[in-house]
Amino acid sequence: MILTRRLLSCVAAALLLTNSIAARPAYFDPSLPIDKRVDDLMSRMTLDEKIGQLNQLFYIAQFMKPEMIEPGLREGKIGSLLFVTDPKTINRFQKVAVEQSRLKIPLLFGFDVIHGFRTIFPVPLALASSWDVDLVERVQTIAAREASATGIRWTFAPMLDIARDPRWGRIVEGAGEDPFLGARIAAAQVRGFQGQDPASPGRLLACMKHFAGYGAAVGGRDYDAAYISDAELYNVYLPPFKAAVDAGVGSAMSAYMDLNDVPATGNAFLLRDVLRNQWGFKGFVVSDADAVGNLVTHGFAEDKADAAARALTAGVDMEMSFPGGISNAYSNNLAKLIKEKRVTTAQLDEAVRRVLEAKFKAGLFENPYADETRAASMHNNPEHRKMARIAAQRSAVLLRNEGNLLPLDPKFSSIAVIGPLADSKRDIRGSWSLADDMKTAVTVVEGIRAKVRRGVKVEYAPGVDIARAYPSIFELFFGPRPKPWNEAQGREEFDKAVSLARSSELVVMVLGQHEEMSGEAASQSTLDLPGRQRELLEAISALGKRTVLVLINGRPLDISWAVTRVPAILEAWHPGTEGGNAIADLLWGDATPIGKLPITWPRSSGQIPIYYARNLTQEPESKPGFKSRYWDIATSPLYPFGYGLSYTSFGYSNLRVSKATAKLGEPVEVTVDVENTGRRAGEEVAQLYIHQRSGGASRPVRELKGFERVVLAPGEKKTIRFTLGKTELTYWSSATRGWVQEPATFDVWAGGDSNATLQGKFQITQ
Ligand code: NOJ
Repeated sequence: MILTRRLLSCVAAALLLTNSIAARPAYFDPSLPIDKRVDDLMSRMTLDEKIGQLNQLFYIAQFMKPEMIEPGLREGKIGSLLFVTDPKTINRFQKVAVEQSRLKIPLLFGFDVIHGFRTIFPVPLALASSWDVDLVERVQTIAAREASATGIRWTFAPMLDIARDPRWGRIVEGAGEDPFLGARIAAAQVRGFQGQDPASPGRLLACMKHFAGYGAAVGGRDYDAAYISDAELYNVYLPPFKAAVDAGVGSAMSAYMDLNDVPATGNAFLLRDVLRNQWGFKGFVVSDADAVGNLVTHGFAEDKADAAARALTAGVDMEMSFPGGISNAYSNNLAKLIKEKRVTTAQLDEAVRRVLEAKFKAGLFENPYADETRAASMHNNPEHRKMARIAAQRSAVLLRNEGNLLPLDPKFSSIAVIGPLADSKRDIRGSWSLADDMKTAVTVVEGIRAKVRRGVKVEYAPGVDIARAYPSIFELFFGPRPKPWNEAQGREEFDKAVSLARSSELVVMVLGQHEEMSGEAASQSTLDLPGRQRELLEAISALGKRTVLVLINGRPLDISWAVTRVPAILEAWHPGTEGGNAIADLLWGDATPIGKLPITWPRSSGQIPIYYARNLTQEPESKPGFKSRYWDIATSPLYPFGYGLSYTSFGYSNLRVSKATAKLGEPVEVTVDVENTGRRAGEEVAQLYIHQRSGGASRPVRELKGFERVVLAPGEKKTIRFTLGKTELTYWSSATRGWVQEPATFDVWAGGDSNATLQGKFQITQ
């Protein structure tokens, strides 16, 4: 009897299962190819459901309630959410989408995972300073692991904007000024985020941004127009994006600004001609937040409907809404636009197809939910923190080290750590640190205290306070900054810091900028150290103590006063969660600085724009009476691109070129010997630069075309090999309006920065 009942219930269960499988439409069948699944799904979708997939909304827990968006999710009116970072909330919203909406299409959750998620790594400009592409890949692999465990399956990174104007706050988010370095870092980031397959566990869909030219904002003012010639676009601004596409990046974000008078978000040249037709990009394009609606503000579209029509037809597939908004230009207008035939169904379908393809590729239909237990294990993960410490060590750049003050003598018995950033957990992390636990970040004071032996006195005084004249939008997330000190307080704190320095054997000054002084909406008119920091540095330097300056910042700053007076200067950037420990490791020699500047460091903001790969003028600097110069200050930068010291020194010799003459298309090999000429082990970034002496268009005085890391014991010498192939010797010519490789003589230099003097040459012939 019992047996029969069991049998019956098994049969019933089997029937139920078969029914439910049968009831599952074909697009849920993972054995079908993705295009068939998309076809099947699209054949069942209403117009509104299609439009819903193109709609991405912000959900910011501090200001919104789930009930505000759940009806939209249930009705299939929202395809993606951004800014949800709590796995429970993600699962709550996902459940509504996959269980209660008609077609059960999962949501794609996106977030700005820029340099870490729970563990914060150094800011991207700092990571680029490592010139270590493996490191960059490993860091983004961890960032992807932490974010994906939370249910976030899409990051709005990598940010690939070449930036040559440090007044622009977002210079901190990219890899600096150079297209070659930028391209290598771009590909590494895509590999780190996506792995072989963005659907595999622990990976994310990457989104290259901001396509394209955003870094050339006039005056360094965020969102301002960019005027970029085609030659500059192809040779300088686009290569990192092209490298990301070649590395298989799954999505792209259109930029905010006007490019040569056409807003990037309505720019068919960028989004169709270049991205799709020339490069064969297969992923989908999302707008930047409210960039579609802003086509009206630009004076480009007549109204939001016109904006929606022009963005979609230009190639923007998904619209990112305005933060706080619950509807947008696409969802309010596309149905009407289709009816009026201003947008065709085919155009709409093309966009929907790309978004759905991405969701299938990300494995969302099979695996839509966050694993809440795994998500919890991503907080304070010791392995990840270890990597954060290594990354911060490798991202710092040693700018000056007179008399080898660094690494520090462990005998110092009293240390004053001074400056407004020295003990700030908030500022050690840098822009876009929105989902970590700030309390776990290690400040410089904490790092030093943990480093020094027992009995060493480490005391701290901020000395000055610093503030933006205009508050930052990001204060919404962390609360407003403390009120500035009044005059009396300011005087008292200043004096306290000076007397602390006076009574200490060693002074570590930690100056720079706070977190919201660089990043989005953080343009600065000068490169001055904010507040009274320079005055404090002058007062403390006057004491004649052994003084080290550590910079925490997101852009080069005017430190020309310091570089002749302060013996040791370490650029730490915003080094992230483990920043304080890494800085202490570097100062006391438990780690050796290996970073190199990914940007030219100006003497003053008056030199901007200044970058090494400029064209020659009729007045080369070598000419006596050089007339292109400023009459008041040197024309050269304070530090050249590629510059960075170590605790040892390196010598370059024996530059050889494999053949004096090569035919067009044939590669040329360049080899050079690098030797550790100092007394400590070290690691150098050997750099290779070229210059094409003549051609259809003038070429930059130098261009980076290769770099290699080399680890050397004292006295050790290694030979480094570079290949200059067709790709390295080709450029986009404004004379022929296309890519060319030309017969010409090429100079080649190898060395430790862009001023390298060891030179060779070769000729390319027909
Ligand atoms: C605006 C920024 O420009 C972009 O970089 C970011 O990804 C989006 N907001 C979403 O946060």
